Amino acid sequence: MNSIERDVVIVGAGASGLTAATELTKAGLSVAVLEARDRVGGRLWTDDIDGATLEIGGQWVSPDQDALIGTLEELGLETYSRYREGINIYLGENGARRTFEGEIFPVAPATEQEIVGLIERLDALVAEIDPDRPWEHPQAKELDEISFRRWLETQTDDEEARLNIGMFIAGAMLTKPAHAFSALQALLMAASAGSFSNLVDADFILDKRVKGGLQQVPLLLAERLGDDVHLNSPVRTLRWDAEGTGSGVTAITDDLQVHARFAILAVPPVLISRISYEPPLPRRQQQLHQHLSMGFVIKVHAVYETPFWRDHGYSGTAFSPYELVHEAYDNSYHGDPRGTLVGFVSDESADDVFRLSPEERKARILESLSHYYGVQALSPVVYYESDWGSEEWTRGAYAASFDMGGLARYGADLRTPVGPIHFSCSDMAGKGYQHVDGAIRVGRETAAAIVAALQPAGR
Ligand code: FDA
Repeated sequence: MNSIERDVVIVGAGASGLTAATELTKAGLSVAVLEARDRVGGRLWTDDIDGATLEIGGQWVSPDQDALIGTLEELGLETYSRYREGINIYLGENGARRTFEGEIFPVAPATEQEIVGLIERLDALVAEIDPDRPWEHPQAKELDEISFRRWLETQTDDEEARLNIGMFIAGAMLTKPAHAFSALQALLMAASAGSFSNLVDADFILDKRVKGGLQQVPLLLAERLGDDVHLNSPVRTLRWDAEGTGSGVTAITDDLQVHARFAILAVPPVLISRISYEPPLPRRQQQLHQHLSMGFVIKVHAVYETPFWRDHGYSGTAFSPYELVHEAYDNSYHGDPRGTLVGFVSDESADDVFRLSPEERKARILESLSHYYGVQALSPVVYYESDWGSEEWTRGAYAASFDMGGLARYGADLRTPVGPIHFSCSDMAGKGYQHVDGAIRVGRETAAAIVAALQPAGR
């Protein structure tokens, strides 16, 4: 077993851990980043699949994400806009096909009125929520005791309005059924993007992509850190100083141990309890990590010889709360003349299709795409399903959220350091929650907290 000494050991080479490591080195501290996988990036992964460049994980950048945009600029990375010219498609109940422009779906006027009213009410509530402290809202506890689905039922009897508004947070963001998370958790999701209206606006939330892929962010950060990033190094055990003696922390992998003054656990919160702690973490942390779980979504990539939908005047943007693929977009890669559609199959629908064989699942998913785009959608030249649910070091997608009541009860302690152990991840962010922007934001804040903690010691 090799042994090294560093100021800070960082567990996890995702966007958050690598940002923290970068900031710490800028402050003159020494770091070691221990990464379980054979690559950096975590939930950012740009890969070549059968000749097509695909974003298997995160990809979109929205204009409010100034932490991510700042990092892209610093790294010299360029962005391009998602293709969005033309008309969008909405499938109503029983497959009723309608086209639309703008954000509001082409539903019956009474349903439209309900949707607009719900958006206004949600925007008003979201404006009262501080995404960094949603538990401080005066009604936080009540809002955390009611599921988002039930809350919507208290607001309107219109099922199609409820399904559509529910879809924006449930299927499209937290990737859990709307009965499985609270209204407070839904409000945090919207507050983290600035407003509920922003989440509803695909042109805002899914605005830009990065030339060469978003994984370049972690790749370039890791390149600068050089030998301080250790791949294939899952941390199994963390020994830490619970008595405050100043003895720090030791992170132990299968063949390396790093002794440091501080540790940053930059892993999804659901994975924190997969590490053994000596001594055990305090009871509060042992409890709170059990009240978070990952959402679950399949990101489906279908590449075609041409972006055929554009010839028919379609933008590629398509929605339906009744379809297996509840949302889909033109996701053609910069510089590739072929056309790519990306679609999403979320939570219980994802459970259902994972009971099928791969061939049957593919057929069901392509059939759903064909309901939007016609029979040409049945024959992609490249087809790929991002399945993060089977990834040992992620275990779901997009990110983690609290179960009912968990956010008000435990949220305030999620990032509270325990002795020399700090926590950093997009799933713990306020602004940018569940997004790369949040990962970077929290990474910077965690590094700053450690630098500040070291200052009195004369560094
Ligand atoms: P992340 O999970 O990336 O990193 C944690 C790292 O810790 C991993 O590399 C893991 O291997 C490692 N690790 C875990 N346990 C360990 C152990 N014991 N020892 C050592 N290492 C360990 N966001 C966005 O902004 N725009 C988007 O379009 C999307 N879309 C999207 C699609 C899909 C399919 C996914 C899965 C995710 C997104 N996201 C997204 C979310 C975004 O990708 C995500 O929020 C961030 O990349 C998370 O970065 P973190 O560094 O916080 O965690």
